[in-house]
Amino acid sequence: MDRTILENAILTLARDPELLERVRANPDDAAGALGLDATWARAIVDGDRDRLRSAGVNDGITILVSRWFKDDLGDSASRGAFVVDESMPLPAADVPEGLVFAGGCSHVPDLLARPEIDPAEAVGRLLDGYHRLAADLAAARPDVVLVTADCHFQSFATQHFVIGTGPAHRGSMEFFKRPDLDLQLTGHPDFAAAMAGAVQAAGQEVELADRVDLDHGLIVPLRLLLPRPDLPVIPIITQPARSFSPFGARAFGQALRRVITESGLRVAMLATGGLSHWLDPGKFGAVDVEFDAYLLRMLQTGRGLDVSALEPYPLLDHGQYEFLNWLIMLGIVGPGVRGEVYAYEPMQASGGGWTVVHMDLAAARDAGAETGRAAVPAGV
Ligand SMILES: [Fe+2]
Repeated sequence: MDRTILENAILTLARDPELLERVRANPDDAAGALGLDATWARAIVDGDRDRLRSAGVNDGITILVSRWFKDDLGDSASRGAFVVDESMPLPAADVPEGLVFAGGCSHVPDLLARPEIDPAEAVGRLLDGYHRLAADLAAARPDVVLVTADCHFQSFATQHFVIGTGPAHRGSMEFFKRPDLDLQLTGHPDFAAAMAGAVQAAGQEVELADRVDLDHGLIVPLRLLLPRPDLPVIPIITQPARSFSPFGARAFGQALRRVITESGLRVAMLATGGLSHWLDPGKFGAVDVEFDAYLLRMLQTGRGLDVSALEPYPLLDHGQYEFLNWLIMLGIVGPGVRGEVYAYEPMQASGGGWTVVHMDLAAARDAGAETGRAAVPAGV
């Protein structure tokens, strides 16, 4: 269901008190009165905020329906549950030509710096996931790897997403007492500048940084995944402490789709971070397994991009401030691409729900080709 159709139906009720009274008096007539199918009309007249949110309707609008149809000013009947609504048809995939790999993984420093603090079996399963993803990345034979991470120890001039435009990137794990894990990477200044230009052309702000000091956010995943040390890498750094917009992250990714295709390069896109993870005093070590499962199910069913419809608070409340990094990747990949979860491990000692996910671009492209063939009239 298109979110805007539902929002328009609810706002039509808001603007027309007589229509609202008619629907309240005769809920079974809501579908005809609102031009919706019976299922979604029922979600409105039942005041089912959780279901409406699953279609991307924003919270400020869904609260209207519980006020009108539940006589529940305190909204005590809503559970705030996150629903993966698999009854909605999956949009056709439209993976950019030139994108040869997409995936996501956590970047927890302890995985390399002191893995002994977590259960050995869980660490083993997580590392197995990284090894599978490393094989996928190598098989994709990329010319350049775009990698998102959030700002941990760096300092930038603005609150915008940052693109590293330097010819090289250096980083250190000295904060974790493991200088032996330091890393030096090759950059790709020309393509990085072209990416920044594409974002600006889309009317968005971006900070270009000639120097991006790598921290564990890039060092850990790239030490585990990069096929060869001289493969060019372009860091994309988010700054959730300064700005947090799920919509903005998706839009940033979408702005990069065309420049990837026009570059003629084989481009890999890796998101890093999360899933649930709090640095707040008193909360470090908590893991929201239920919400992590919701996010992974959204990815598995090809609906990860829809997470961008959530407002900032639900994500932040569930410890997902690093999922912004994933939404940039999902914005590049586009809708309808399923993710395969290679690993998920809730690890209290290292402080989060850690995961490894491979986005199945090949299957999405095959499905798109099938759809295209089906659309060709018989006999042509
Ligand atoms: Fe992080």
